[in-house]
Amino acid sequence: MGIEHIPVLFEEVLAVLDPKAGERYIDCTVGAGGHAAGILERSQPDGRLLGLDADPEALRIAARRLERYASRFVLVNDNFVNLGSVARASGFFPVDGILFDLGVSSMQLDSLERGFSFRADAPLDMRFGPQQRVTAYDLIDELSEQELAAIIARYGEEPRAKAIARAIVAARQKEPIRRTGQLTKIIERVVPSHGKIHPATRTFQALRIAVNDELENLESALGQAVEILAPGGRMAVMSFHSLEDRVVKQFFALESSGCICPPRLPICTCDHRPRLAVSTRKPIVPSEDEKRQNPRSRSAKLRAARRLA
Ligand SMILES: C[S@@+](CC[C@H](N)C(=O)[O-])C[C@H]1O[C@@H](n2cnc3c(N)ncnc32)[C@H](O)[C@@H]1O
Repeated sequence: MGIEHIPVLFEEVLAVLDPKAGERYIDCTVGAGGHAAGILERSQPDGRLLGLDADPEALRIAARRLERYASRFVLVNDNFVNLGSVARASGFFPVDGILFDLGVSSMQLDSLERGFSFRADAPLDMRFGPQQRVTAYDLIDELSEQELAAIIARYGEEPRAKAIARAIVAARQKEPIRRTGQLTKIIERVVPSHGKIHPATRTFQALRIAVNDELENLESALGQAVEILAPGGRMAVMSFHSLEDRVVKQFFALESSGCICPPRLPICTCDHRPRLAVSTRKPIVPSEDEKRQNPRSRSAKLRAARRLA
């Protein structure tokens, strides 16, 4: 992504977060600091921001980009699955706005040695941060054929998951599959190439989601975000594939509902109270213009909500 990286749905994110002087914000995926810079700029002169990222390299870039707001931001190298404890330890509790801009950055995709892309040969890594233990190689090397097929089907929504898993297990019996190039070739032999999408796209997405526990961590972090939002606080979540968006949509639906008892019960026994008011009935998506200028924005979906008192 580089220092000139263009943040996706920049104005739309700022419109829903509505930054103001004197308020506190958390950017859970600070990346190169594009959205964070917008939040700090619009909350002048004394709005504060806590930026999290699992990737220490991203934080180095963010620190440079945010330099001019020096005393108003703190960066922490951690996974957002620890959002609640990091926020409290950093004095960001309660907060007025929380942003998640999910997934992998173009900077990470372009860092070929990270192994996120099938377009270059690199070690099968795919971890967001070096503190994580399990790499894509570990999964490819150690999981059973059934486990691999389940991951590729569930997180990649890949119709050929079973055939791919079978081919991986057959290939690794001959030699270890350590590199993206080896894996891509195995998939290309099994999945016919048609249309715009490369045959390895879905399997690479599935492995990345599994390596980083993306859906489980997201679900946990969304729950923690609601806990630390002040009444009236805003929450914006931008996702880039349907599995993530489903987690966000279902979470918002649950948190904005009153009774969640099964319909057959004659009286309410759940005592469930809505904690959020959803501000986006349908997700906000990029304009045709933005998609043209920044192809990475193509699949973005932004959902937002406000914390009830
Ligand atoms: C799309 S980029 C964010 C770009 C940023 N909004 C900007 O304007 O520059 C996503 C970032 O989130 C980080 N990330 C993804 N999942 C994470 C997690 N569970 N915990 C912490 N950081 C995460 C990635 O390392 C990456 O740097």
